[in-house]
Order: sequence, then C-alpha cells, then structure tokens
Amino acid sequence: MAFIKIPPGWAMPERQATPESVYLSRRDVLKKLGFSALGIAGLCGAYRQLSGPHASAFAGPQELDSFIPKSPNSGLYPAKRNPVFKLDRPITNEFIAAKYNNFYEFSLKKNVWQHISQFQTRPWSIEIKGEVEKPQTWGIDDLVRKMPLEERLYRHRCVEAWSMAVPWTGFPLKALLEQAMPKSSAKYVRFVTFLNPSVAVEQKKAHWYPWPYFEALTIPEALNELTFVATGIYGHEMTKQHGAPVRIVVPWKYGYKSIKSIVKIELTRKQPATFWNQLQPQEYGFVSNVDPDIPHPRWSQAKETLIDTGEKRPTLKYNGYGEYVARLYS
Ligand code: MTE
Repeated sequence: MAFIKIPPGWAMPERQATPESVYLSRRDVLKKLGFSALGIAGLCGAYRQLSGPHASAFAGPQELDSFIPKSPNSGLYPAKRNPVFKLDRPITNEFIAAKYNNFYEFSLKKNVWQHISQFQTRPWSIEIKGEVEKPQTWGIDDLVRKMPLEERLYRHRCVEAWSMAVPWTGFPLKALLEQAMPKSSAKYVRFVTFLNPSVAVEQKKAHWYPWPYFEALTIPEALNELTFVATGIYGHEMTKQHGAPVRIVVPWKYGYKSIKSIVKIELTRKQPATFWNQLQPQEYGFVSNVDPDIPHPRWSQAKETLIDTGEKRPTLKYNGYGEYVARLYS
C-alpha cells in the first residue's frame, strides 16, 4: 500500500499452520455445540492442544468470540463446503489470521483487533444502485437468509507479499447482482465501505486518505464464479477485523481489491476510481491481478510468506486461479 511498509522480518514468535483436519474437527464440534458458551469454553483446551503454540496468538476461542458479532443468523454457520475449491497448502491458523489484518480504518498497523471493539455491525444495510433495473437496499440479516450460503477455501495474497488460506462463507457476487438486474449499460461495479470516524479512528486521524475506502471491478470480473460475497469465516460469522458483517473476496487479485465492511454497491458505465490507485497510481493498478513477474516498484512479488508458518512460497500467477480467470485478460 502507499504507506504500508513490509514488516521487518516476520514478527510473530512461532509459526505453524493449522492442518485442515484440526480446523475441521473444531468446526464439527462447534456445529454440534451450536456455539453455546459452554461449548466454546469446552473446546478451548482441545483446540490449544491440537494447534500447538499458535493458540497463544489469542487467549483462546473465547477471546476470538468477542470479535464475532452476534446475529439472528449465527445458526447458518458453518455452511456446507463447496468441494470444488481446493487448497495447495494448509488452512491458516485462525488465531494468527485474526491478529494480522489490514483494515486501515481502524489501524495503519496489523493490530486491527486492538482497535475494533467499538465497531457495531448491526443494524447494517447494503444498497445496490446505478445501472440496474431494480435498485434496492437490504438489511444484512435478511440478505443472508435469502442467499444460499456455502463455504469456500481460497488463497489470499496481499500486495505486501504475505498470504493466508482461509475458509470463507458466503455466496457468489453474481447471485447478488442478479437480484438487482444489471442493465446492459453496466460495465463496472463499485464498492464502498462505511464511514464512521468516531469508531473507525483512522478515518479521522489519517486525513490524507480519501475515506471511505472504495474499490471496483469490471462486470466480467464481478460475474466470475470466484468473486465472492463473504459473511463468514472459519465456520462462523465474519469477525470484525476481517470485515464484518460483509466483504468482497476476489482471490486472484491483490488483497486490497477485497474490500471489507461494504455498505454500497454501484453499477456504473465508466471505470470508477479506486482507493489505492487514486493515491499511488504508479504502484497500485486498477486491475491488480497477482503476478510474480511484475514486481511492485519497491519490492519483488516473486515469493510470498505464509503469515502463520513463515514459509516462503513462489507466488502463483493469478494466485493460482488462472483456469477461472486468465481468459478475462487475454
Ligand atoms: N477493506 C477496507 N475497507 N479497508 C482496508 O484497509 N485492506 C485491504 C482489504 N480490504 C482494507 C480492505 C487489504 S490491503 C487486504 S490485504 C485485505 O483487506 C486484508 O484482509 P484480512 O485482514 O481479512 O486478511
């Protein structure tokens, strides 16, 4: 990002991925227990034992639970996993992922979790407008009940050269856009995050940024089957630091395209401005596909570091999703 510096070394003390089996067993138990307080407390020990030293990233599931907004839809999670989307690496340790975030509204560092407790995600609505036949506004909980939720395992690659692999829950953006019936004049989709400087303190302090955060995709990108609207993560509702109550996930693009906590979607005829591109066009393009062969002007993109293990892996073109998206750019 314009002012994000790659952290000097990978500051977390010890790193170890959560094997999928561990994540799965926690998820199954959570489902059985229906997220009861007793259930969470009971799990804590087992999960720590299974996941080794990384559980210390958070004191335990109870602490993580304080970042999961409660809603009438919590029983819909975990949703059934779509087996089509497979990973080539273990799922990232949930506790590490929840303490290593980019959410500039709350902190310009990775410690978003320490600045987000006052963030209220209910009531919350999303407006769809612009080049559509049926502009409309949904309350988030009505929308979630209406859409067919599924879980998908996706890799996530930040432009800062770190990556994670996460189970998101949600639905394809295409299904949402269809509700509003896009007109043929629609060529782009613009997304906007909330504006509330009294709780998102950097929206006031970091006055050089053009708040609220905004991003955009072309219509073919927005309608691609990978483009996802996520309302959950790791088998439960979205944590605040990952973009509660609803965010976009575009796994073949650098992470800044995956805008968090959206309130507005607008279909447009002309290419909209985007947050980082407007600030630093020579460093952050509109398209921003993951590409190991195009270095950032200040660092290489050839490799990425997994946030929980510290392992370095070669970066994959389109973040490994070429079979879904390469044709969009040929
Ligand atoms: N969305 C908003 N509203 N504000 C942000 O600062 N940061 C982006 C993206 N979405 C950002 C955002 C960046 S740079 C990345 S890498 C991802 O969120 C990080 O997502 P995560 O914290 O869930 O890993």
